[in-house]
Amino acid sequence: MAEYDSFTHDVLVIGAGGAGLRAAIEASAAGVSVGLVCKSLLGKAHTVMAEGGIAAALANVDDRDNWRVHFADTMRGGQYVNNWRMAELHAKEAPDRVRELEAWGAVFDRTKDGRILQRNFGGHRYPRLAHVGDRTGLEMIRTLQDHGVHQGIDVHMEHTVLALLTQDGRVVGAFGYERERGRFRIFRAKAVVLATGGIGRAYSITSNSWEYTGDGHSLAYRAGAELIDMEFVQFHPTGMVWPPSVRGILVTEGVRGEGGVLTNRAGRRFMFDDIPENYRTQTADSEEEGWRYCQGDKNARRPPELLTRDHVARCIVREIKEGRGSPHGGVFLDIAWIKKRLANGTDHIKRKLPSMYHQFKQLADIDITEQPMEVGPTTHYVMGGIHVDADTQMSRVPGLFAAGECAAGINGANRLGGNSLSDLLVFGKRAGEYAAKFAQDNSLGEIDHAMVEGVAGEAVRPFDESGGANPYEVQRDLQELMQANVGIVRTETEMQFALEELQGLKRRAAQAEVTGHREFNPAWHTALDLQNLLTVAEAVTRAALERKESRGAQFRDDYPEKNERFSTVNTMISRTEDGSMQIRLEPLKEMPDHLKRVIEEMK
Ligand code: FUM
Repeated sequence: MAEYDSFTHDVLVIGAGGAGLRAAIEASAAGVSVGLVCKSLLGKAHTVMAEGGIAAALANVDDRDNWRVHFADTMRGGQYVNNWRMAELHAKEAPDRVRELEAWGAVFDRTKDGRILQRNFGGHRYPRLAHVGDRTGLEMIRTLQDHGVHQGIDVHMEHTVLALLTQDGRVVGAFGYERERGRFRIFRAKAVVLATGGIGRAYSITSNSWEYTGDGHSLAYRAGAELIDMEFVQFHPTGMVWPPSVRGILVTEGVRGEGGVLTNRAGRRFMFDDIPENYRTQTADSEEEGWRYCQGDKNARRPPELLTRDHVARCIVREIKEGRGSPHGGVFLDIAWIKKRLANGTDHIKRKLPSMYHQFKQLADIDITEQPMEVGPTTHYVMGGIHVDADTQMSRVPGLFAAGECAAGINGANRLGGNSLSDLLVFGKRAGEYAAKFAQDNSLGEIDHAMVEGVAGEAVRPFDESGGANPYEVQRDLQELMQANVGIVRTETEMQFALEELQGLKRRAAQAEVTGHREFNPAWHTALDLQNLLTVAEAVTRAALERKESRGAQFRDDYPEKNERFSTVNTMISRTEDGSMQIRLEPLKEMPDHLKRVIEEMK
């Protein structure tokens, strides 16, 4: 076998966003050695795109809040196909995780009496999002990074993992390459935690940066884990739409939490036109009431802009499709209007939403304290992912754990904004803790050299192709295919078309050609990412075809209603021995009575 640099850790964490960092910190605190692999530089993670806050029932702003309300909100937002145990653990443990982050140095915004300030967000009954202006994810990463680095975690930056290594079904390490020199690396480990984030780059309009190509989903699937509920892809209602070069960049829900309103070309607040039945009693029926809610009036109900993301995104699409959109194909999001209500409105906007102010000023030449923004839906998050045990975060592959966006269950059919930052803290910690336990109870496995050589040979194959496809073109065609056919509104015909086209894209990807050498070669990196993108694109499409109903983020034009048959099942995807993708419906576990009672009471 060729000589490759080899690193040995008790626990290897792949992915260094919030979940990966939190897992690494916990494993390291348990006394095992930890390696942390980042696809790009440490600190550059999609976590920073959760700008508006961390959802946790601290009850600092409204003392009616508690874990039970948070649990019920999360289940309702997820349309009850969530893993209830994960939703329970998350709601109960999030407040401690936030306080711990504060103790590690996170500088939260404050209430007048000095407690962590919380703001409103869609689908959360009370102001629940602990925040740092509109830079919460960034502050979280900064804090975790600082804490982790001082704990002696070994960091491998700019490394891409190509395969998980297994022995008799158990994970024993990973094989990948460092991007700068293009050299292969072997990582031996007793346990591996995947925390690679999402799949946003499978779509052409996305808030995700180049790293989010479904790597963890695909690595786990190929190693024998199951993927659950991949049809549920979250299209955040508000991304930038103009200028074209910045299309998809996130506009935080915090804008609506601070009183921002959505209007169409005619200046109408169209969100008032369509209030779902199950949110009717909690939604304001006048602009006046909605504003009072944003100002903290406990007797007022939330404005319709703070309905769940799946619903808001669909209403925006409807306005655009029916010709009532903004000049560049979005709708208007107006925060400047609050100056009519607040004497210090301009300063208030700049203080609460500093990043949004700069983002629009610099990228679109718009002053959001004076003018409305143009916004439209952007692919932001995937609720589906690696199926894990709720308590330990271990997948069905022994020694393989997952946390954060690449793991799934807690969010069901739709995630509430702010629940991702709390999810990654709660389950990142748990994954780290149980991975460390696994590492303490097991020894290192043997590396299968034939497998390593097979993966290495396949990885360099694009250099030997001639007349093959350009990897950037394959990636672009894949993104456009998914955006057009497996997007916010879906039909059987479009998705069958997408499946057929994916077969063609797979053939082109298998013959992708690159030139030059292995030292920092982005075309080569793109060619290597294609396998992951194709795997997750197929998984999303197959799962969306299987769920013949509309629920949460899955809206089927041909099945526009919920269907009882699908209200108690998850879609499960696994790889057969011949390498093809298999899908089945798995009944949800019966919810225990004490949790059923919580949901009943909250209704
Ligand atoms: O809108 C936002 O700030 C995003 C938050 C999230 O995705 O949780």
